[in-house]
Amino acid sequence: MLIAGNWKMFKGVGEAGEFCRALREADLGTVDVVVCPPYVSLAAAVQALSMTEIGVAAQNVHWADDGAFTGEISAPMLRELGVYGTIVGHSERRQFFGETDDTVVKRILAAMEHGLHVIACVGETASEREAGDTESVIRRQVGAIAEGVADTDDLVIAYEPVWAIGTGKTATPEIAQEAHALVKSILDVPVLYGGSVKPDNAAELAAQPDVDGALVGGASLDVKSFATICREASHS
Ligand code: PGA
Repeated sequence: MLIAGNWKMFKGVGEAGEFCRALREADLGTVDVVVCPPYVSLAAAVQALSMTEIGVAAQNVHWADDGAFTGEISAPMLRELGVYGTIVGHSERRQFFGETDDTVVKRILAAMEHGLHVIACVGETASEREAGDTESVIRRQVGAIAEGVADTDDLVIAYEPVWAIGTGKTATPEIAQEAHALVKSILDVPVLYGGSVKPDNAAELAAQPDVDGALVGGASLDVKSFATICREASHS
């Protein structure tokens, strides 16, 4: 069971260090734990969490090792910082920054080539679900990854229905289970659930047979709530 905290564009260096020092002291149960700070706070998080089992991952990575790509960060740069992995293809990247199934695959391949673990995100929007397209969207997004990535040892998929992200509308455990089973029928890797995971719904989501953890946004920004989610998920 893996619980990953996606901080999005929250917590600069000072706050990140403070959070990680508090996290070190918190009871996180028995799950594997990863935090994903913004780029500028990665070094502070790596430093504060060295000598612990808690991993630090980035929120994105470019596919080239270096080059004229203003504003981008490469896998070797992340490795040099001691970062363990990266999120790829988050729906906010897909919605607001032009991420496509093709660029998701390119990023995954580059990350893995340099030894980074990857959390690749998929999930349908509200209108896609309403139109009955959930299955075809998941098949397309996961299918692109399955086709493009041969070695999936260091790959985890996060199923994040876009309508559940930051909305307080969590998928029911049944909806999550159904989607996770579909993902696994296409690509046999662990699948995290993401979208309004909170201390009070973490246990029932984690109890589903094909839910292997959670990618937590808003509720990962507070040590107490993140630690509670980790402990709740530890019970299942
Ligand atoms: P949320 O975000 O938990 O705030 O809904 C999840 C995510 O976007 O990874």
